[in-house]
Amino acid sequence: MQKHNSSTVSALEIQTMKRAAEIAARAAYCPYSRFPVGAAVLSSEGEVFAGCNVENASFGLTICAERNAIFQAISKGHRSIRAVVVVTPTAALAPPCGACRQVINEFGPNADVFVFAENDQTSHFKLNELLPNAFGPDNLT
Ligand code: THU
Repeated sequence: MQKHNSSTVSALEIQTMKRAAEIAARAAYCPYSRFPVGAAVLSSEGEVFAGCNVENASFGLTICAERNAIFQAISKGHRSIRAVVVVTPTAALAPPCGACRQVINEFGPNADVFVFAENDQTSHFKLNELLPNAFGPDNLT
């Protein structure tokens, strides 16, 4: 398992988020892709929120697990995301899609992103590695 030395998120927080993401992935609604995804986010207040992907017969309306998890946090009044965990039951790691990177940037431009695949294969990124030179709230001022 990769070390997480460069992040400010503790090993316990990462494990808590991973567990929440794994549980959320069980509820994934993915009859079209058969690709379940679970995500969890850690707010600056230390609370964890999880979400899964939810697909639709009109495919383009699908929402990713990461955005669902973030919107759970926002809906509970949180506005700052410290970390995101994504889990997929696959051999290959599945980092967040471009749309999710943009939404993470809105609430967590400095967020740590941890991606887990099977066999505890994992990678750690900073959001600004995944979305360099992002367009964000400051560009509108
Ligand atoms: N998906 C996510 O939930 N998160 C991502 O970052 C990438 C893709 C979902 C969307 C769709 O339900 C399935 O994975 C296949 O693309």
